Amino acid sequence: MQPEMATHQHSSHARIACSECHIGPGATWYVRSKLSGAYQVYAVMANKFPRPIPTPVKNLRPAQETCEQCHWPRKFIGNLDRTYDYYQGDETNTPFSVRLILKVGGADSSRGLVGGIHWHVNPGRSIDYIASDESRQTIPWVRVTDAQGNVTEYRTPKFTNEASASTIRKMDCMDCHNRPAHKYESPAKAVNMAMSVGSIDTSLGYVKTNAVYALTQTYATQEEGVKKIASFLTERYPGKRIEGTIAAIQGIFTNNFFPEMKASWKSYPDNIGHKDWPGCFRCHDGNHKTADKKLAIKASDCNTCHTIISQGSGAQLDQLTTGGQEFKHPGGEFDSSCIDCHGGGQ
Ligand code: HEC
Ligand code: HEC
Ligand code: HEC
Ligand code: HEC
Ligand code: HEC
Ligand code: HEC
Repeated sequence: MQPEMATHQHSSHARIACSECHIGPGATWYVRSKLSGAYQVYAVMANKFPRPIPTPVKNLRPAQETCEQCHWPRKFIGNLDRTYDYYQGDETNTPFSVRLILKVGGADSSRGLVGGIHWHVNPGRSIDYIASDESRQTIPWVRVTDAQGNVTEYRTPKFTNEASASTIRKMDCMDCHNRPAHKYESPAKAVNMAMSVGSIDTSLGYVKTNAVYALTQTYATQEEGVKKIASFLTERYPGKRIEGTIAAIQGIFTNNFFPEMKASWKSYPDNIGHKDWPGCFRCHDGNHKTADKKLAIKASDCNTCHTIISQGSGAQLDQLTTGGQEFKHPGGEFDSSCIDCHGGGQ
């Protein structure tokens, strides 16, 4: 479980014991987990464990009994102000940032207006869905039951089955926050972060491209990766002082890539956004409609979940548009889904 221990250590849950989420309080679950825990130890010893370890974890306790013991689902979170810093793949590593207001909102009317992203977890509402694949990346059917018992059913055109013939899952925290403790960062995201805090030297030509390239090569072991990253970069930047940059990229590699266990961002979907994995767009893709086709799950409007208040670089970032700006994509115009080009699933 080296990948899970390492990623846990770098998460906001580093101080939360594994058992708080994987076992939780209560005797019956404890016994069940102990049995499967013993099996896991046996499987590792006998070298039988599947690599990567498959997710979603089948016997994970429901969110109500783990996450919601510490996080109060009725909490009003409101708007979060987030800045994402990127660097492009050109010689000068042109910076580009997006500052957006994420409308997380709340789920209890006694605390604030119910709505926004946490609308899904309103205690009076139930959202159920069917996934047609093991990793829950394809969701062809969704049902919303409101506090008055009114039911709205959405489905994609291809899904013609009776819903009752499939396993129906009730949506909870983990359907969006499925990586609260084990986040395997994508190479682009981790390199952008290291460049923005200066641990990778942004004055080195093409360093964004070279760092991502070094991280995406196939290595048999972590040891091999660490060595080859150093020799590749030394060759690329003769005569330059790059010890710090090499160490930062090696650090990204050992914290997020585990070749021995075949664990990396590519093996574990992250459902929180929509850039690297389908995430929110599993349902919010414009393709999920009611039987009379009059109603679709909101999709086309980029302002549904967040508003971009500034973007670009330097002084451009001081020009705030509170009503929201259209996204100026650094990769040029596009008419497909983000994951078609940025996705980890490919
Ligand atoms: C804050 C809650 C939380 C804590 C603490 C936590 N985990 Fe997890 N863990 C999860 C969730 C949620 C998943 C399921 C992810 C999914 O289904 O996509 C998971 C998945 C896993 C997996 C399956 C493989 C993977 O990477 O997804 C293993 C193995 C695992 N955890 C082990 C551990 C160990 C060992 C610790 C302690 C060092 C730990 N977990 C701590 C929530 C937690
Ligand atoms: C034993 C208590 C506990 C449990 C169980 C727990 N958390 Fe947390 N969670 C915390 C603490 C403590 C923090 C860090 C809060 C801080 O320092 O601001 C946190 C932070 C978070 C954050 C903010 C993350 C960030 O990076 O800022 C999210 C989202 C979250 N938890 C979701 C979950 C989910 C989903 C689960 C269930 C799989 C879960 N938590 C289980 C205690 C817990
Ligand atoms: C529909 C998807 C979705 C569901 C379901 C959901 N969340 Fe969130 N939540 C988000 C998003 C998106 C954010 C914004 C922060 C981010 O992107 O990481 C957020 C933010 C949060 C934060 C604040 C993090 C911070 O940085 O301040 C906490 C805590 C949290 N959620 C806990 C929960 C808990 C507990 C549940 C279950 C009761 C839950 N969420 C259900 C999508 C969801
Ligand atoms: C399992 C399907 C599903 C997933 C996954 C999902 N949603 Fe939704 N969401 C819905 C449905 C159904 C509605 C209600 C219909 C509508 O408003 O279009 C909704 C409504 C919303 C709303 C409008 C709430 C309001 O105030 O009316 C927001 C905002 C939203 N979702 C954000 C998100 C975000 C962000 C994510 C990813 C982190 C996400 N959703 C993932 C099914 C889903
Ligand atoms: C259903 C809700 C929803 C819709 C609709 C939506 N987004 Fe997002 N978007 C999110 C969430 C949630 C995040 C935050 C992910 C995270 O926690 O980092 C996000 C993040 C982003 C980011 C930062 C991405 C990153 O990971 O670096 C950009 C850029 C973005 N969105 C652009 C868009 C554009 C352009 C559109 C319209 C085509 C759009 N979004 C539509 C929910 C949505
Ligand atoms: C047709 C392919 C394509 C699609 C679809 C696409 N992108 Fe891109 N994206 C690119 C290319 C190419 C670049 C430029 C890469 C560079 O120079 O670093 C880029 C760059 C970016 C960057 C800055 C560089 C970085 O480190 O990430 C962001 C942010 C981004 N895209 C977000 C999005 C979002 C969000 C969506 C969906 C709303 C999206 N893209 C859809 C191809 C695409």
